[in-house]
Amino acid sequence: MDRQKYQKMMRGAGQLDYEIYLNTEQLLACQKEPSELCNPDELQFMIVHQIEELWMKLMATTLLDIDDEMRAGRSLKALTLFRRVHLCQEMMTRQLGLLETMSPKDYQEIRILLGNGSGQESPGFRVLLKMPADLWQTFEAVYLEGGKRTLEQIYDSEYSHDEAYMVAEAMAEFDEQFQKFRHAHMQLIYRSIGVAANSLKGRPVEILNEGIRQKFFPALWHIRAEMTDRWGGAYGRKRDKLGKPADA
Ligand code: HEM
Repeated sequence: MDRQKYQKMMRGAGQLDYEIYLNTEQLLACQKEPSELCNPDELQFMIVHQIEELWMKLMATTLLDIDDEMRAGRSLKALTLFRRVHLCQEMMTRQLGLLETMSPKDYQEIRILLGNGSGQESPGFRVLLKMPADLWQTFEAVYLEGGKRTLEQIYDSEYSHDEAYMVAEAMAEFDEQFQKFRHAHMQLIYRSIGVAANSLKGRPVEILNEGIRQKFFPALWHIRAEMTDRWGGAYGRKRDKLGKPADA
């Protein structure tokens, strides 16, 4: 195939309404030119990171909208928006798989070009780490203090699968999806640079496991453990086997 002809076509002319509205000319110029790539996989490496950054921008913007909707008491709208965030999270995790089609050697060639850059410098990731604390404050104000109820009532003694419960579960899902991303990212690191390697900042990558243990909404996980203790407590710590005792 005529590589140059098709590479020119990929850029487009930037003149059609579709191209003008979507800024395709600038968008498609955000990656290195083919002649500048250290190897063919570098294009994929850049595109995956750039797309992930865009999903995080959409997620962060949607979380701002969710906060507004919760404050306005529009739980159903907040739930639809949460679904959007969850789908972005699922896509982010799934897209990491693209980079597992890159050989360790191809990545080593790319890695030389990265300076001491780190995903911890990602603007999208940094803002997403901050927002859940504010979101929790809103949840407390609207559904706990505002609804004059506790999590225990919402989840257990007055459980009715209502709006407060559904919003709380959407927040738990956000927390869980975030962990799934971090876990898949750790596997990607192992696959690319090995277990117990050091980051480009010279830190052991194992410190990322601290993030894997982090919960944004600990109360939503705690309530489940409390319920397990409370419900389980009625039967004692260790249960008898089901069925008849052996000597009966
Ligand atoms: C071959 C692919 C990749 C490798 C080898 C890799 C490697 C690493 C390493 C070693 C760190 C730790 C950096 C430090 O100590 O400062 C890190 C952090 C991070 N990377 Fe990647 N990464 C890859 C792809 C990606 C992609 C596609 C994203 C997309 C957003 C990403 C996002 C992040 C984030 C957000 C962090 C911070 C994580 C946290 O604090 O929990 N990485 N990555």
